[in-house]
Amino acid sequence: MAVPETVMTNDDLSAIVETTDDWIRQRTGIRERRIASDKETTATLGLKAAQRALEVADILPLELDMIIVATSTPENVFPSTASLIQSWLGANKAGAFDLSAACSGFVYAVDMAAQAIRSGRSQKALIIGAETMSRVLDWSDRGTCILFGDGAGAVVLEASSVEGGVLSAVLRSDGSGGDLLGIPTFGSTDMAEIETLPNGHKLGKMHMNGGEVFKFASRVIGESINQALDIAGLTIKDLALIVPHQANLRIIAAAARSLKVEESLFYVNLDRYGNTSAASIPIALVEAIQAGRVKENDHIAFVGFGGGLTWASMVVKWGAPKPDDRSKMLNRQRREAIYAFAFWRQRLIRLSRQLNDLVNRIRPNRGRLQRLRRRIDSETLE
Ligand code: COA
Repeated sequence: MAVPETVMTNDDLSAIVETTDDWIRQRTGIRERRIASDKETTATLGLKAAQRALEVADILPLELDMIIVATSTPENVFPSTASLIQSWLGANKAGAFDLSAACSGFVYAVDMAAQAIRSGRSQKALIIGAETMSRVLDWSDRGTCILFGDGAGAVVLEASSVEGGVLSAVLRSDGSGGDLLGIPTFGSTDMAEIETLPNGHKLGKMHMNGGEVFKFASRVIGESINQALDIAGLTIKDLALIVPHQANLRIIAAAARSLKVEESLFYVNLDRYGNTSAASIPIALVEAIQAGRVKENDHIAFVGFGGGLTWASMVVKWGAPKPDDRSKMLNRQRREAIYAFAFWRQRLIRLSRQLNDLVNRIRPNRGRLQRLRRRIDSETLE
């Protein structure tokens, strides 16, 4: 995982909009969130998380054959965030694309990769959830700006002969609720100078109907986890942990009530990061592993929900290879060398393209000059 260093507390927020630490904590459970610096982007945060994931999995970028970035805050429509990261990593044998399913995106992306591995198409896939929500928030809207934060998390999935991994997944969408939570972009109008659409929504800024989203989220978490458990042939009692999308503590409490389980079955870190959209589940997963809450052969569930509306649940049997220290050390050096090579490769390719352009621009001028000189010469002769 990778999160920006800058911490924004609820008190900091109360200097921007009319709110209080007390209100935010009681209604959401959030105490603080991380905010990207001017130099940080969705792709740079995603890259950091990706490099750490490759380190933990102890594999080289060249072994990857698929990179998926789940995000709602890419810098570009294209190139995708995944393509930027692919180039920076030097993962030259990987296909790369972004996946847009809002806060459910990470679970969707893991399922895409797991299916690709199961079919034999892919061997090693890198899945990243990365967001800079701070760039799409309307900082004058206290109903939304208090909820979100920036960050990234990543996992590596690899083919294995050991039974386990992704056992089941339930991916759902109900586009009739698309008006409840969204970020309209310039594709929604061809008049780039318009900042506010006829329905009052601002271009590039998030809008939300908090109450309706709250009800939707509280309902689908329990429903979809039960569906995923059914498919996996398991019951809620088999789960060692649920890693939910980190939106609101009250939503998680309502889901725990509907599933008739203790709230402690859910891993929660939204108090420190707020809602980081597609990044929230991988960030929570990393911290759950670090806290010793995920053990070999545990059954754990992921559940995401958000804009679309979309929602997704997944049951996983946890298993991770344990690379030995010597191979780790050697591969660490190789990875560093590959990252440096990738950096210079991209620079040199772009530089040589610019030089080419320059030469091509000068060449026709040289031809024109020669033609002019010939004309002058012939006219002088005449
Ligand atoms: N600070 C202080 N007061 C606030 C406030 C804020 N940041 N935001 C809203 N209020 C006020 C409202 O204006 C309202 O005042 P009123 O009673 O005088 O009209 C009051 O608090 C209650 O507002 P309401 O919107 O009913 O609060 P709520 O309990 O529903 O909480 C959310 C609002 C946004 C926290 C809650 O609806 C929520 O978390 N929804 C889900 C959002 C979500 O998770 N989205 C992402 C999904 S991926």
